[in-house]
Amino acid sequence: MAHSFDFLVLGGGVAGLTFALEASAHGSVAVLTKRSRSESNTLYAQGGIASVLAEDDSFDEHIQDTLVAGAGLCKREAVEVAVKNGPERLRALADLGARFNEGDNGDFDLTREGGHSRRRIVHASDITGKEVIRALLSACDEKQNIQFFTDSTAIDLILDKKKPRGQRRVLGCYVLRGDGGIETFLAKTTTLATGGAGKVYLYTTNPDIASGDGVAMAYRAGAKIANMEFYQFHPTCLFHPEAKSFLISEALRGEGGKLRLRNGSTFMERYHPQGALAPRDVVARAIDAEMKRTGDECVHLDMTHLGRKFLMSRFPNIYSTCKEFGIDMAVQPIPVVPAAHYQCGGVVTDLYGRASLPGLFAIGEVACTGLHGANRLASNSLLGGLVFGHRAVAVAADEAKAQTGAPKEMPPEWDKGTAVESDESVLVSHNWEEVRRLMWNYVGIVRTDKRLARARRRLDVLREEIREYYWKFTVTRDVIELRNIADVALLIVECAQARKESRGLHYTLDYPQTDDAHWAHDTVVSRTP
Ligand code: FAD
Ligand code: SIN
Repeated sequence: MAHSFDFLVLGGGVAGLTFALEASAHGSVAVLTKRSRSESNTLYAQGGIASVLAEDDSFDEHIQDTLVAGAGLCKREAVEVAVKNGPERLRALADLGARFNEGDNGDFDLTREGGHSRRRIVHASDITGKEVIRALLSACDEKQNIQFFTDSTAIDLILDKKKPRGQRRVLGCYVLRGDGGIETFLAKTTTLATGGAGKVYLYTTNPDIASGDGVAMAYRAGAKIANMEFYQFHPTCLFHPEAKSFLISEALRGEGGKLRLRNGSTFMERYHPQGALAPRDVVARAIDAEMKRTGDECVHLDMTHLGRKFLMSRFPNIYSTCKEFGIDMAVQPIPVVPAAHYQCGGVVTDLYGRASLPGLFAIGEVACTGLHGANRLASNSLLGGLVFGHRAVAVAADEAKAQTGAPKEMPPEWDKGTAVESDESVLVSHNWEEVRRLMWNYVGIVRTDKRLARARRRLDVLREEIREYYWKFTVTRDVIELRNIADVALLIVECAQARKESRGLHYTLDYPQTDDAHWAHDTVVSRTP
């Protein structure tokens, strides 16, 4: 079965919904999501959205903080575009109905996070993402031109095979639907808004949808991918045997939270002048080093001096979730560990979301615009999703207009070949666990040449097994995701092996210094499909 639209949007997080909402003024839009409409990284965002709104703040300062966190690899133009368009995009979101906390002067309440020299984070208590999704979805519901397809997993991009390699336009993609059928979605432009790949690692703050599908599909289709070695580890994920991926927001440190060892002593002052509010890479590495030094399984985030009343009103979600796990943050420090959080690299795009393949756009976490460089500044991701989701629309609309009529020859329907129902799904669960564990152990916060080489050897074997399984058996969502995390894992390793220095989120004991003379540039990879 084939569906045809003007705009195909893969993903319903902040970036995809922003794009879809505005693109609907120019034609028909399909938004595909893997699970429910709202399930996404965006839904779980806590801290907020960084933007210059305070009188004592300036674009220059936000730009400077972003560049410092990015450790020399941000593209200044991308940073300027994101920062300078931030206030307008935020107000547009508020006009759509997003309700953010208000400050004393009736404007936005602004909180602070690591690496920011000012209070500039707009937030909806500690559930900012939920509010962003609510507002965007209800605005989308008012647009007749937008059609949602939930439980719909894009498998691979469809290329126009009649063109020579390297010039093949993206025509849409094959999609596994909830009933097990595989359908063809065609469009004048295809926009990847598929988010990140936290599930590549054993411990992550990300929900299950974050399996790097966009990067993997784009790579297989021949798009340029960059900077995958810069995977961000959030310093403070709740450490509890029953808690799956629960983030303890950086805003807690912004409001005065202190990181302590088991014996109660603080340690961040030994690592950075900004202490617990240093950029994330520094804090995550410091915690990792302290855990290795002391042999402890976690460190602690102490909020007890701030009082129950403040904690309950400022962090209602974190307060109640900790309570559910038996932790009363008003009287006891919260046990925390670093966990994989954000993909700073991704599909290379220009400042309008255009990827390197004709007809393909990428926005949000899946994209590498140059905004984040070697390390993303806190709360700059939702900002990037809003700004680049908006900017991509005008260019995509022009492209769609130029694509008149249906393709002369329809691309072939999905060919099932000789695939049969699987009789040994254990390969999927086993390899899923193995990829994530080896990435955690060998390609985590601290790397070495030896660990990377080990990871690569194992990934080569695993990818071959997964490839065989993928072609032999009927496609399921688990297999699609497994194939993608394995491809993304390899890209992370390849980029990490290429970079013979330490910078931002890529830290290796073999090359502990930053080497600006040789490495002040992106790591770009691509393959010929
Ligand atoms: P997502 O919101 O992740 O959406 C991805 C979408 O793509 C989903 O709808 C998914 O179903 C769909 N999808 C994926 N693969 C496929 C496929 N194969 N086929 C079809 N659909 C697919 N950033 C901030 O700036 N501030 C914060 O306070 C903040 N807090 C965070 C807290 C947590 C716990 C986490 C995990 C992240 C946080 N981040 C924060 C990061 C930020 O939330 C994300 O980077 C951002 O929301 C990504 O938005 P996105 O639109 O690119 O993708
Ligand atoms: C947080 O609330 O700590 C997450 C913020 C972010 O990822 O930008």
